[in-house]
Amino acid sequence: MSASTLPRPSAQPPLTDQEVLSYLSTGLRNRWWPILQSALIEIGGKPLGLTRLAEKLVVWRDTSGTVRVQTDRCPHRSVPLSRGVNEGDRIRCIYHGVEVGTDGTVLAVPGQPGCPLEGKKAVKTYPSQEIGGAIFVWFGDAMHQEPAAFNPPIQLVGEEFSAFPCYADWKASWRYVYDNLMDPMHGTFLHANSHTMFQGETQADFITRDTEHGFFFEKANQRDVNFDWSELVDDGGLYVRLEIPYPKSGGPGGNFGIVSFITPIDETSSACFFWRFRKVSGWVRDTWRFLYRTKLEPRHWHVLEQDRDLLDNCGLGLEKHEMLYQHDAGLIRLRRYLAQQGREQLTALRATA
Ligand code: FES
Ligand SMILES: [Fe+2]
Repeated sequence: MSASTLPRPSAQPPLTDQEVLSYLSTGLRNRWWPILQSALIEIGGKPLGLTRLAEKLVVWRDTSGTVRVQTDRCPHRSVPLSRGVNEGDRIRCIYHGVEVGTDGTVLAVPGQPGCPLEGKKAVKTYPSQEIGGAIFVWFGDAMHQEPAAFNPPIQLVGEEFSAFPCYADWKASWRYVYDNLMDPMHGTFLHANSHTMFQGETQADFITRDTEHGFFFEKANQRDVNFDWSELVDDGGLYVRLEIPYPKSGGPGGNFGIVSFITPIDETSSACFFWRFRKVSGWVRDTWRFLYRTKLEPRHWHVLEQDRDLLDNCGLGLEKHEMLYQHDAGLIRLRRYLAQQGREQLTALRATA
């Protein structure tokens, strides 16, 4: 065969929507995601194994107080490092005693000192930081192992805000939980009997409004009466912010708000982080914190359970059966955005494969 008859390498076929959805099913990469409440990981405490974005992680805190997040596999025989022992500056695997340091380097192989495994950086260590009472981890794809900057929501870190971090495991795809957050209209119906969402019009026209890092999806004819708007933000991490006014029983202070990060565990379950916040200071702040702890928190959980009960029972593939209308424009736009982001990531990965 002459050179001119050799088959030329063909270009990659375009990605199908199904391939993009399948890629997205375990999460969008190149973002910071919260994985766990900080308080659950103590200095010197037992390493904890968990799954996020379908990746097995071991989380532990070293003697300096720094949280370490690593792949939950011993480099020797691949058993979970999370079953091992936190030795302060390293994890010791309980199977044959191999010791792995904070940067993933094998520090010792006690059964065979000097073996080639020693000194090897054999375990992936994820960039992590603690913000607002949660451990955030950078999940980069093969081309983005170095983390991008993350601008955490001001409601989690600003002095002028007072937030309670809340956490729940849901048996729902992370994408459907974001859909739910970008659907303010459900507040008027699903939560009609709640302490916060019983007022206002039961019909609405919605508009979308671009922001620097996302968009608002909001009612054109009503504000600060019910769950009237959501904002999607993608700024190093992907989250939704919303506000709902409190009735008088909520005490003094402004609207009640929620910042939500929904971290994929795997295709069918999600680690849901909700920071419930209010912009309050001084005695009003103290009053809000007291009221939340003594009275309001169970009511909020009750509302959230209404969402969870629906979403936990949806399964996958909703898109095939839906008949959407104008109130769904927010989630349609969100889905398009995620698909576009997923397509770009997957296309770039394939080009380098
Ligand atoms: S599997 Fe961990 S030391 Fe052998
Ligand atoms: Fe809801």
